[in-house]
Amino acid sequence: MHEKLVDLEPPRVRLANTPTRGHWLRFAESQQLGAKIWIKRDDHTGSELMGNKVRKLEYLMAEAVANEATHVLTCGGEQSNHARATAFAAAQLGMRSVLILRCDDPARPPAATGNILLDRLVGAEIQWITRPAWRDRNRLLAEAAERVRAAGGRPYIIPEGGSNALGSWGYVRAAHELAQDLEGIAAPDHPVTIVYACGSGGTGAGLVLGAKLLNFAARGIRVAGIAVCDDRAYFVESIGRICADFEERWQLPVHVTPADIDILDAHVGIGYAKSRPEELATIGAVCRSDGIVLDPVYTGKAFHGVVTELRADRTRFGSAVAFLHTGGLYGLFGMPNPPW
Ligand SMILES: Cc1ncc(COP(=O)(O)O)c(C=O)c1O
Repeated sequence: MHEKLVDLEPPRVRLANTPTRGHWLRFAESQQLGAKIWIKRDDHTGSELMGNKVRKLEYLMAEAVANEATHVLTCGGEQSNHARATAFAAAQLGMRSVLILRCDDPARPPAATGNILLDRLVGAEIQWITRPAWRDRNRLLAEAAERVRAAGGRPYIIPEGGSNALGSWGYVRAAHELAQDLEGIAAPDHPVTIVYACGSGGTGAGLVLGAKLLNFAARGIRVAGIAVCDDRAYFVESIGRICADFEERWQLPVHVTPADIDILDAHVGIGYAKSRPEELATIGAVCRSDGIVLDPVYTGKAFHGVVTELRADRTRFGSAVAFLHTGGLYGLFGMPNPPW
C-alpha cells in the first residue's frame, strides 16, 4: 500500500484471493487488432465470491463485523453479482443476508438460474421489487433494516454495487497491485491504458483515486472506464461524489477532478443487461481463442467496446491495453436464449 495510505487504510477481512494474475490474450493477435491486450484476472478473486465485488466487500464486511451486525442488506438487479457476493460473504462470516432485487413482476419472480440460484442456495432472504420501485431502493433498504431491528437483529446496509467510499478502498488497493503488475512488463509492451467495465462506479472511484495517489498520469498510464449503462456525465458525477466522500473521510492529500474521470460511453449498446449479437460474438471469440469467459452484462460489453475502439483506431489506447476482468460468470447462466 502507498506510504500515504498505510495509516489510513480501514480494517479489512480477507475474502479475495489476491493478488490476481495477469497475462496476454491471443485474441488481440488473432483478430489483428494492432495493439496487445493484457488481462488482469479479477474474475479469479474466488469462486462463490468471484469478481470485483469481493475486493469492495473486504472493507464493507469488516465494518459489518466491527458493528456486530447479524444481517447484511443490499440491493441490485435480478442477476446481481454484487448481491450474490454479499450473500456469500455474509454466510462465510456467520451473518444472514437480505437482498432487494428488481424484476419485471414481483408476483412472478424470475426462475432460480445463475446468481438467483446461488442467492437461494445460500439462504438469502429475497425481497422482489418492480423496476419503478427501484427509485426508492434506499428507503426500502432502510425499512428492511427496521424490520431486522424489530426482530432483535443488527442490520448493516451496503449500497448498490458496494459502491461507496469505504467499498472503493478495494480498488485503491487493486490500483497498487496493477502498478506492480505493469512495472513487471517491459517496454514496448508496457500497457498504457487500463480499461474496466463501469456499472455503479465503485470500481472506477477506487481506480481513479489509486491512479491519482500513485501518479499514474506521470507514468503515462491512463485509466478508462467503459460504461455499461447510463452515460459519461452520470459517471463523472457519481464517481466524483464517491471520490469526494473518500477524500473527506480519510483526509487524502490528493483531489480528484472531473478531468481525472475518463469514461467512454459509446458502448452501452441497446441498454443495461441487453446484448447485441456482435457483443455476444466477441464473448464467443474470446472464449474460443483464450478459454476465458466474459459475461454479457459487464465484461463482455466492455471488452467489445475495447475491440470496437481498436478497430476504429489501433493507437486509441497506446501500444497495449490492460483489461480488468471483473467477473460476472454466474450471470451467464441466467441468460435467456444464449446464442452459442
Ligand atoms: C462483473 C462485473 N463487472 C463490473 C461491474 C461494475 O463495477 P462497479 O459497479 O463497481 O462499477 C459489476 C457490477 O456492477 C460486475 O458485476
